[in-house]
Amino acid sequence: MDLGVIILAAGQGTRMHSALPKVLHTLAGKSLLDHVLGTASRLQPSTTVVVYGHGGEQVPESYPDLAVEWVEQAQQLGTGHAVQQAMAQIRDVGRVLVLYGDVPLTRSETLLDLLEESAESPLGVLTAILDEPGGYGRMVRDPVGRILRIVEQKDASEAELDIDEINTGIMVFDRTCLSGWLQRIDNRNAQNEYYLTDVIALAVAEGVEVSSVQTELEEEILGVNNRSQLARLERFFQRRQAQSLMQSGLTLADPDRFDLRGTLLAGQDVFIDVNVVLEGDIELGDGVSIGPNSVLKDCKIGRDTSVLASSVIEEAVIGAGARIGPFSRIRPQVELADRVRVGNFVELKKSRVGVGSKVNHLSYIGDSTVGANVNVGAGTITCNYDGANKHHTEIGEGAFIGSNTNLVAPVAVGAGATIGAGSTITRDVPADRLSLTRGRQTTIEGWQRPTKKTRKT
Ligand code: UD1
Ligand code: MG
Repeated sequence: MDLGVIILAAGQGTRMHSALPKVLHTLAGKSLLDHVLGTASRLQPSTTVVVYGHGGEQVPESYPDLAVEWVEQAQQLGTGHAVQQAMAQIRDVGRVLVLYGDVPLTRSETLLDLLEESAESPLGVLTAILDEPGGYGRMVRDPVGRILRIVEQKDASEAELDIDEINTGIMVFDRTCLSGWLQRIDNRNAQNEYYLTDVIALAVAEGVEVSSVQTELEEEILGVNNRSQLARLERFFQRRQAQSLMQSGLTLADPDRFDLRGTLLAGQDVFIDVNVVLEGDIELGDGVSIGPNSVLKDCKIGRDTSVLASSVIEEAVIGAGARIGPFSRIRPQVELADRVRVGNFVELKKSRVGVGSKVNHLSYIGDSTVGANVNVGAGTITCNYDGANKHHTEIGEGAFIGSNTNLVAPVAVGAGATIGAGSTITRDVPADRLSLTRGRQTTIEGWQRPTKKTRKT
């Protein structure tokens, strides 16, 4: 039987105190809604509908290419009302699963359990037992444990408030039954809202036996209402990732000071020091080590390469046996061959550097092709920008660039050339020669430093 998923994401998120709709806030680099969409897609539904409202078109506009149906709920009149808005978009399914856009970490395994458990029932609920059930709807059961109804915190009696089994909000319905029940709910309750949870009592009155699955893992049903809850779930998610990476052989100096906002593919004996942030898709070869306080985004690093402390690398491919940092910045479109060395306060951008070359101190290399075994002296700058356009610099194999050289692009330095320190190179440099643009050093004989005049009184 085909499954439809409705994701409720119209709520305001007042307690986030944010201009951004709540479901667009990120956890581990992905929006809350992305997490839920990812979980939903693993269930292979035939249709997914997202109900949005607060924050207007910002939410659908953030997903221009997503194959889901968007339904606006202009006024947030309750979870039952929200589901009603979506029903027209999921006509041809047998069952409907309701998820919340602000509950990001539900496991698809748990949802599959719920779907399986309620295969024979027109209504199934995911519940949990909480030490502190405050704020949640409570599951009211009869003496033999059959679900009778759900009572919201604000409508509950003293005795009902003592119930520690809560409604996670995640429910699955037979589509036809749900559609009938939704027509019969009202808003006569403490919040004047159309509660989806009221459907339970209606079903029970019709003799339906409500099925349920209880999850043990609190974090998978927790919603994000404020920034501390967001931080709590972020830490939970990061710890879980760190544990699973360590189990597959990664060494983390401290799993509590590791953040992966994307995916990491790590070889054998990879070491990651404290406070490293990895974003996007990262590939680290065998024996790679990443120094403390480094930030890596979308990059691939070859075996036995060391990235030393406080380096920032983005969209780069780095070969084997290289050494980067400390304090290096490698910007997009950089390709470094094997055994390249990039040292402190060096910035590289859109450049290729050949095998064994060194750029060890205080340099900027941009829009350049650097051959193998080149030595770039301290303070070398490729002047790649004339204020309007970017130009290319070519440095041939085995060249030696003296310290404090300006290479005014477009310019080419021949293989094996040597450039004297302090030169400003504006024309191509021939191979295997020494070129320099430097005033000759002279010494003025007999010169004396001026002395201060004594003033006459
Ligand atoms: C709801 C449940 C409660 C459950 C709790 C779990 C109801 C009546 N209550 O309560 O039993 O324990 O979730 O977290 O269902 N939303 C809309 N449109 C609306 C109202 C809400 O899209 O008009 C969305 C919200 O954005 C949110 C979700 O539905 O993602 C839940 O709404 P919320 O207001 O948080 O419901 P609770 O009062 O927490
Ligand atoms: Mg809530």
